[in-house]
Amino acid sequence: MSTPPFEGKQHKAASRLCHGVDSMKALIVYDSKTGMTERIALAISSGMKEVGAQVEVRKAVAVTAEDFKAADAWIVGAPTHIGSATSDAKHALKQGIATGAAGKKGTSFDTRFEKVGKGAADKLRKMMEEAGVRIIVPPEWFGVKGTKGPLSEGAEDKAIVFGRKIAGALRP
Ligand SMILES: Cc1cc2nc3c(=O)[nH]c(=O)nc-3n(C[C@H](O)[C@H](O)[C@H](O)COP(=O)(O)O)c2cc1C
Repeated sequence: MSTPPFEGKQHKAASRLCHGVDSMKALIVYDSKTGMTERIALAISSGMKEVGAQVEVRKAVAVTAEDFKAADAWIVGAPTHIGSATSDAKHALKQGIATGAAGKKGTSFDTRFEKVGKGAADKLRKMMEEAGVRIIVPPEWFGVKGTKGPLSEGAEDKAIVFGRKIAGALRP
């Protein structure tokens, strides 16, 4: 019988050497009714990719259990509706949690009117934390000027920076 080249901790260390941050798979799941949160999700994704992260982006209504299972990190976002996350975003996250949250890393984000105290990201973070997801960077919010946008000035740049920060926190 042949001996496997690496076992246990050795295997993990070797895998890190071979793949580094690239081996971490991140999933961005977002809901968006009028496109603002979608733009933020895509900007976060480009910030993460800039620094070498592997990222899949899925709309809440289209994400599958397999998408959640395949990812090491879940980044979940939604527009703020009545101080919380939209039901499509919460439903998608519940679907992910049902596949097993142990060992997953994550954070959340939202779009909301400026000067509003709490938003969707707080609710999504709470759901993830309670399920056992480790929050690796604090949730972030992005301003909108009206119910259907536009985004506040600099919101997409802020999202790119947030993406880089998430990718940095995913480094082993
Ligand atoms: C039904 C409804 C409720 C909303 N409630 C809030 C709210 O409580 N706080 C807030 O900051 N924005 C609220 N908004 C504004 C949304 O945050 C805004 O429409 C959203 O950021 C747009 O994102 P989207 O284009 O991705 O749908 C609400 C919008 C709608 C349509």
